[in-house]
Amino acid sequence: MLREIVRSVVRRLFEAPPGGAGGQGSFPVDDLRALKERHERAPLDLHTGILFRDVAIGGMGLLELYESCIRESDTAVSPWKTFARIQGAANLARYFLYSLDLEGARAECGVFQGFSALFACRAAALKAGRYGGEGLHLIDSFEGFPQPQPEDFIPIRGGNETKYAPAFVAGDAAVSFEQVRSVFRAFPGVQFHRGFIPEVLAQLPETSWAFVHIDVDLHDPTLASLDYFYPRMVKGGVIVCDDYGSKLFPGARKAWESYCTENGIAFVTLETGQSVLIK
Ligand SMILES: C[S@@+](CC[C@H](N)C(=O)[O-])C[C@H]1O[C@@H](n2cnc3c(N)ncnc32)[C@H](O)[C@@H]1O
Repeated sequence: MLREIVRSVVRRLFEAPPGGAGGQGSFPVDDLRALKERHERAPLDLHTGILFRDVAIGGMGLLELYESCIRESDTAVSPWKTFARIQGAANLARYFLYSLDLEGARAECGVFQGFSALFACRAAALKAGRYGGEGLHLIDSFEGFPQPQPEDFIPIRGGNETKYAPAFVAGDAAVSFEQVRSVFRAFPGVQFHRGFIPEVLAQLPETSWAFVHIDVDLHDPTLASLDYFYPRMVKGGVIVCDDYGSKLFPGARKAWESYCTENGIAFVTLETGQSVLIK
C-alpha cells in the first residue's frame, strides 16, 4: 500500500509528457527521467553486484544489509537513484558507527518508512552486538511534507513556458506511523517524535547530540534542524544532510549553505549528494 502511494507520486513526477520549452537537461525532472530510463535498460543488478558485492558494513555484506532494510521498510527505490542510495546508506552507517564512540544522543529528522534509520540501527547492532536503539530519536510528521516554500521550487516543463513548482506538495510522503514503528521492533530503545519541525523539536530532551541525520528534503525544516541541533552537538559530533546535492530539492542545499556560511562551519560534500559536518 505504502509502496503504491510512493510509486504514484513518482509516476506523477516522471511521467509528465515530454515537449514544451527548454532544451535537454534544462529541467531536473527531465534529467532524472532520462537517467531512470537509461538505468532501466541496463542490467542494474549486475552493476550493483560488481560495484558493491565485496563491500561490508560491520562484518556483513553491504548489499545483503541494504536489501534486507529496503524490504523490511517496504521502501521503493527508483532506478535513477540505485547507486547513490546504496552508497549513501553505507556513508550514513559509517558516520553513525563513528558516533557510537561519542557521548550524546542521536537523531534522524525525516524518517519516512524507516529505511535509513533501520540501516544505521542494524549496522550498529552488527558492530556493537547489543545495540537496541538506545538514545536514538526519530522525528517525522508521518503526515508527509509541510507546504514547500519558494526556495524549494524547481523549473518544470509547462507547455511553452517554464513553471516553477515544488517537486512534492504538502501531504506527499504520508505514511502509517504504526507500520513505521513496527519496522523498529528489534530496537526497543528507539524513541519516536511525531509532529512537524520546528515545533516537534521542543519535545526533545534537552541534551547533547553525537549524530544527526537531516533528510527532510525542504528548506525550512533543514534550516530549523541545523538551528536546533548544531549548537547542541558535542565536539566531534556529526551532522549528515541527505539532500545537499538533490536536483529535486534545491532548498535543502540553500538552507545548509546559508547556515554553515553564517556560522563559519566547515563541511564536506560526498559523491552521493550528502553533505557532512563534524563539529
Ligand atoms: C525523503 S523522506 C525521508 C527518507 C528516509 N530517511 C529514508 O531513508 O527513507 C523525507 C521525510 O521528511 C518528512 N518531513 C519533511 N518536512 C518535515 C517537517 N517539517 N516536519 C516533520 N517531518 C518532515 C516527511 O514526512 C518525509 O517522511
